[in-house]
Amino acid sequence: MASIISRATLDAMSKTAERPSNGDTRLETTQIYDIRQHGDNPIDLRKELVTGLTGSREKNVPSLLLWDEQGQQHFEDILHCPEYYPVGAELKLFDQHSDSIAASVKPNSIIIELGAGNCKKTLTMLSALERKRKPVVYLALDVAADALAQSVSTLARLTSGFQHVVCHGLLGTYEDCATLLSREDLFHGQDILFLWFGTSITNLPWDAAADLLRRLLCHKHCSAEMLVTVDGCQDLEMINLSYDIPTGQIRSFVRNGLVHANRLLDSEVFNLDDWDFERCFDPQTRNLNLYHVAKKDMTLHVDGQDIPVVKGERVHAITSAKWTVEDVERLSASAGVVIGEKWIGPRANIGTVIPNPPL
Ligand SMILES: C[S@@+](CC[C@H](N)C(=O)[O-])C[C@H]1O[C@@H](n2cnc3c(N)ncnc32)[C@H](O)[C@@H]1O
Repeated sequence: MASIISRATLDAMSKTAERPSNGDTRLETTQIYDIRQHGDNPIDLRKELVTGLTGSREKNVPSLLLWDEQGQQHFEDILHCPEYYPVGAELKLFDQHSDSIAASVKPNSIIIELGAGNCKKTLTMLSALERKRKPVVYLALDVAADALAQSVSTLARLTSGFQHVVCHGLLGTYEDCATLLSREDLFHGQDILFLWFGTSITNLPWDAAADLLRRLLCHKHCSAEMLVTVDGCQDLEMINLSYDIPTGQIRSFVRNGLVHANRLLDSEVFNLDDWDFERCFDPQTRNLNLYHVAKKDMTLHVDGQDIPVVKGERVHAITSAKWTVEDVERLSASAGVVIGEKWIGPRANIGTVIPNPPL
């Protein structure tokens, strides 16, 4: 299913976007390109997991554990819950502003969506680009192979009548994408637009998010911009309900991270009956943190090491920050980029982020 990407493939995609063609032909040629540096063997993820459990700071497990195929299913369940306001807030903003957002996109851009998920928001934007007759190549990037194949194939079917937009997939992580972008032989002279929706930028620690922005956007060999969404909701009641939905979808999603951890460690290190769930909003940092919480004192056995855990101890699973526009401005400044245009809603905000100074 996955192929290797080359300059010739990118050029061929761009030609297809420029040239009106029969939709069926586009559908047949839809591809997923494998850009993973470690292939099927996520050595770094296992290493990161062990380091997070054995280090001296608060214990944590990598948030990437949440996004295996089972995790994608759990997240899809969350998206259908009315309590989970971020998805509706973003979709509404896209519905209202898709034409002006599309107007800001340069024709012949390669659009790469980071963590594309089910691509539902993307369809609104690609439809607006098609209406404006802007030829673009859209590449959905995600780390979950089966879910990515499903999303790209659904998107390709829904856009099969489009004359100016072609859709393919990239299998890999944000890190793999940053490495790919550094390749001058692939992207020389190209306009790139990243999409980063679902407030996913705030799942990364602040410094890591700034570093990734810099590595994705600041290049001499190509011109890159990013369209990014953040959840600006400051209503504590709404946030608390949304991130601990009474029917349990968030808990199931987070709990699956421990199942993934056991699989990666090849041993039942975490007995699921011994762990509870907690969500905690920090009004100072505006970070909403989700944790696994130990129900009793225990010892975890990892790679020959004994790791003591006390009752009530928390293991960090993921953060989703509720950044204001000013937060994004501060982050951008530390990454050497600035906010260009922005579209503000009552809960979701969309903005373009561009290199500063423009390269
Ligand atoms: C919060 S969901 C957002 C999905 C979609 N963009 C949306 O707005 O509904 C995050 C998505 O990013 C993917 N993801 C998370 N971390 C990733 C990483 N480091 N590299 C690539 N994809 C990642 C997950 O698999 C998941 O599909």
